[in-house]
Amino acid sequence: MNTNERLLRGPVLHCLSEPDKSQGAIEYIDDALLYLQDGKVAACGPYAQVSKQCYAQQLAMVEDHSDKLMVPGFVDCHVHYPQTEMIAAYGTQLLDWLNTYTFPVEAQFGDLAKAEQVAEVFLQELLRNGTTTALVFCTVHPESVDGFFNQAQAKHLRMIAGKVLMDRNAPEAVLDTAETGYQQSKQLIEKWHGVDRLQYAVTPRFAPTSTAQQLTLAGQLLAQYPGVYLHTHLSENKDEIAWVKALFPEADNYLDVYDQAGLLGRRSVLAHGIHLCEEQCQRLHDTGSAIAHCPTSNLFIGSGLFPLRQLQAFDINIGMGTDVGGGSSFSMLQTLSEAYKIQQLQDVNLSPEQAFYMATLGGAKALDIEDKIGNFEVGKEADFLILDPQATPLLKFRQAHSNNWREQLFVLQTLGDDRVIWQTNILGQPVTY
Ligand code: GUN
Ligand code: ZN
Repeated sequence: MNTNERLLRGPVLHCLSEPDKSQGAIEYIDDALLYLQDGKVAACGPYAQVSKQCYAQQLAMVEDHSDKLMVPGFVDCHVHYPQTEMIAAYGTQLLDWLNTYTFPVEAQFGDLAKAEQVAEVFLQELLRNGTTTALVFCTVHPESVDGFFNQAQAKHLRMIAGKVLMDRNAPEAVLDTAETGYQQSKQLIEKWHGVDRLQYAVTPRFAPTSTAQQLTLAGQLLAQYPGVYLHTHLSENKDEIAWVKALFPEADNYLDVYDQAGLLGRRSVLAHGIHLCEEQCQRLHDTGSAIAHCPTSNLFIGSGLFPLRQLQAFDINIGMGTDVGGGSSFSMLQTLSEAYKIQQLQDVNLSPEQAFYMATLGGAKALDIEDKIGNFEVGKEADFLILDPQATPLLKFRQAHSNNWREQLFVLQTLGDDRVIWQTNILGQPVTY
């Protein structure tokens, strides 16, 4: 058997399309054979079928995971790695929270060694929780990006990140200028975008901390470097929205501030989007921009209840974000659990299939990389998880009473966390964390 090959037998669950939009969107194969070659999916299907493509020598090497569940790696569409050390900060909402906790911590990331050290902790935490791809905020310092990408590259991860742009309304230590922000971003794009599995995101923090000039230059970067992402925050908190209105009186609404600077498009991802009018939803749809829904953050810093059905009605791409450190967990399972509860408070039932979709293929689609990751289709990169559905005494007890995979999935999302991530695999190989 070729050393670049791996065969795994056991239950597989993955999405082929979006459950809320189509029948048969999710595939569960009770006895599957997953055949990996050179870090990619070579075949995935019922054991009885796929095993016919294999030689006896290969079948002798099959790993048995019949008591586990194989799923694609989770995709975190919005997270801040420098905020790892201030997760779980007490007592404030967004604007106070930024000034009290966030900016002082982020001020320290001009030091490459510090950036690398925190990036290492952060990436280990992602992997422990089954997240294999993320769209990541760094800080205003170019060193914060180098530190992050150095560590992600060493682990062969598919990651998207960028230097924060902010040229006003924050302490001096976390500010750039419109011109230095532009030049530094340009250099970082040329250094990192498209290197291995790393991609760059132009990252204006949010409208209040950038001048119109800085946002316009961010738009120029997107025009100059097609394929580069735009990553920012949008309509998270009522005081924030009022502030944007005062700072940009000529804009029609919050989203329009970004729109006028040329920041919307298929590779634009805006975190939160809680308080949006129909006009903004329509524009998100028309430009193909995506929203990262961050439930633990929305609850933890008291921002509001995400209007899932409203955004779905406009057919907007939606991925899930942990938003650590505004978010209170690295676990995508716990993030889905909170997403379910947020919809319950609005009389909406978020199905476990749709939740799972938003954490895998839907996240990949929000990031415009659904041709590379998100499920077990042949040719996709083999970033995947082996879950232990019975990882804790309570899970074991509860799952004994689950009648089908759907119930098992919902129980996993509600009671599960890092303890159910039995193995995280990157490009077909298990990683240690
Ligand atoms: N808006 C601007 N900056 C931030 C941040 O760091 N976290 C969150 N949740 N919202 C923001
Ligand atoms: Zn955020």
